[in-house]
Amino acid sequence: MSENKAPFYITTAISYPNGRPHIGHAYEAIATDVMARFQRARGREVRMVTGTDEHGLKMFQTARDQGRATIDLADEMSGYFREMYARLNISYDNFMRTSDAAHHAASQAIWRAMEANGDLYLDRYEGWYSVRDEAFYDESELAEGEGGTRLSPQGTPVEWTVEESWFFRLSAYQDRLLALYRDQPDFIRPESRRNEVLRFVEGGLKDLSVSRTSFDWGVPVPGSPGHVMYVWVDALTTYLSGLGYPDLDGGFGTFWPANIHMIGKDIVRFHTVYWPAFLMSAGLPLPKQVFGHGFLLNRGEKMSKSLGNVVDPMALAEQFGVDPLRYYLLREVSFGQDGTYSAEAIVRTANADLANSFGNLAQRSLSMIFKNLDGALSSDYASHEDDRALMAIVNDACRTLLPREFEQLAFSVGIEEWLRAVFACNQYVDTQAPWALRKSDPERMRAVLMTLFQAVRALAIAIRPVVPAAADKLLDQMGIAPNARDFDALNDAGWFAALAVSGFTVSQPVPLFPRLELPEGAGEA
Ligand code: MF3
Repeated sequence: MSENKAPFYITTAISYPNGRPHIGHAYEAIATDVMARFQRARGREVRMVTGTDEHGLKMFQTARDQGRATIDLADEMSGYFREMYARLNISYDNFMRTSDAAHHAASQAIWRAMEANGDLYLDRYEGWYSVRDEAFYDESELAEGEGGTRLSPQGTPVEWTVEESWFFRLSAYQDRLLALYRDQPDFIRPESRRNEVLRFVEGGLKDLSVSRTSFDWGVPVPGSPGHVMYVWVDALTTYLSGLGYPDLDGGFGTFWPANIHMIGKDIVRFHTVYWPAFLMSAGLPLPKQVFGHGFLLNRGEKMSKSLGNVVDPMALAEQFGVDPLRYYLLREVSFGQDGTYSAEAIVRTANADLANSFGNLAQRSLSMIFKNLDGALSSDYASHEDDRALMAIVNDACRTLLPREFEQLAFSVGIEEWLRAVFACNQYVDTQAPWALRKSDPERMRAVLMTLFQAVRALAIAIRPVVPAAADKLLDQMGIAPNARDFDALNDAGWFAALAVSGFTVSQPVPLFPRLELPEGAGEA
């Protein structure tokens, strides 16, 4: 099977359900979903796995502070994540909760494999732990906080921890990890994250504490009463349990290793140091790529509860619509870097690109066909050099340029290529002025409108992974069958003639992207 049509497996990080989802969760889910939809539209069989990371001290303590059972907190919050995914049109195949029995079994299976490989031993952990990050830190990594307290590199409090614990022989994997980064230069992206990891691993690795005895909310360590697994060991295993591991039949045999683990830049170490070492130890193939995306900043500021600027993605979807929100996040943020957003920016971008440019193009084109040609399509027209030039631009953007960029997760660049083709279409409408041709040269008007119809279809197919609902609504109105909306359809030479003779006619089009208004009280950014 060529790499182009090979099965494709992509994951998001699984979120701690210790609170409701925020825009950062929405951002990662949307970017991952766009990639999953894009690969499906390229003709690949895709699995997308996501879920909630329900163990660990953070969950345990949050629930305790609220005076409730941990599973109760997890049940409620995990539900909000699923609701958000449904609202944002996230096309995941499996939502794993790490409290599931099947996930426990998978975690115990990888544990046993690491143990059989001689990589686990019992000792005592003495060192720093951050509950917020669920991470162990070396003394040398810590910074001084207020009043002589210590802070993790992420700025979170750490506490001194002493307990009996299982250890994983991470120190033995330094050379193999460095070889991995060298031989698979795309393993860690973007490049800046790769350099950080290289420096960390070159500095030498200590063995990792992988179980806890001071609380019991976790996956029991097999054969070791009183120990639960360190939350990251079981969390990372979601990427396997989400495919039914250790069973080969639930997708694991087909889809593992993952093509992309999509994660935030703050958890790159877990995914590019610990995870590949666990997998090597268990004798499992390694993921092809870990992509650490940037953070979304609200008007340039990091979101935090104390700043009171935590934004509910459900409210944004309600206010601006799901597709405009999805489009904005992928168009504005150069993927991999931090991005910023504000209500003004979402409104400005959605109005400029979607309502005024693409939406208007589709609306004008279909409504002129409806009004001036009774909605009839025909492939029998004399095409002019201008028509062919336009189609060349549109086809290049939709068949080649956007896919090439999306393949590399360069979403904003791909969308810009698409937008250039949209602009070319609008310019074509203005120069050809089909409304003026109606009396003077109706044959030429028909050629122009038929060209536009074909251009709009290609543009809708190409942008469909980003704005699936709007693109489908448009393609429905254009009589394009649901199974003819993939990238392959862009190479089908006969579709237009076939549609034209099918008797399909264009009706009065309904607008796709209403113009958005700035919310009351929002100033210009
Ligand atoms: N819950 C972790 C966090 O939010 C992410 C876990 S991702 C996985 O930082 F690797 F463990 F799946």
